Amino acid sequence: MNKAKHIAIIMDGNGRWAELQGKKRVKGHEAGAGVVRAITEYCAAQEEIERLTLYAFSTENWKRPRLEVEFLMKLLDKYLNQELETLMKNNIRFETVGDLGAFSKKLQKTIQTVKEKTSHCDGLVQSLALNYGAQDEMLRAINSLKKSQDDITLEMMSQELDCKHDVDLLIRTGGDHRLSNFLLWQSAYAELFFTDTLWPDFTDKELDKIIKKFTKVERRFGGLK
Ligand code: FPP
Repeated sequence: MNKAKHIAIIMDGNGRWAELQGKKRVKGHEAGAGVVRAITEYCAAQEEIERLTLYAFSTENWKRPRLEVEFLMKLLDKYLNQELETLMKNNIRFETVGDLGAFSKKLQKTIQTVKEKTSHCDGLVQSLALNYGAQDEMLRAINSLKKSQDDITLEMMSQELDCKHDVDLLIRTGGDHRLSNFLLWQSAYAELFFTDTLWPDFTDKELDKIIKKFTKVERRFGGLK
């Protein structure tokens, strides 16, 4: 049976969820933050799940209206401050992938504090993808490696990327069937699951069902049965 050691999620559908209820898009992000909390706690309670990587803000999300971007930044800061205690209580280590340099000093400091205060935790790793794009991640890795005289190997690339862990199970909520520049290198042999459920409606029950299906998939990694 397959083990979903590393689950990655594209949390899509917040805006549509809010609009369907006649609310402003940002209300969907607020509801989405609650689901991040619930899904993280569920994953922390499953022994086989080691890592949960969540796509919270992409390198392309800066194109959104300024007010929505500002709201997302504030929401992240609030979420991290509020979650610190719960993360520690549940032995969850907080990490990030992506280029944090573009964020405000205040948000960078909050992120750093939560990382430091949970660095001793050895249960689930919750990794937020922040100002993350797989192409940007790969370019940064290549630019850093090209200083070396040696040919670049697969291992060297893997070690230079922000996320050094292959994805087992990649889920996208919100009905679209695309990867949107998320963990392209690490998902080379990930199993992909797409659901129409909008992120604020996603539950641990649905995740549990997806994991059960995933455990039965035959993974061949390019080889034969
Ligand atoms: C996609 O929905 C979601 C985002 C761009 C942001 C994800 C953010 C959250 C889930 C909440 C905040 C996260 C944390 C960790 C506190 P969309 O706005 O593209 O939805 P749409 O496709 O319906 O417009």
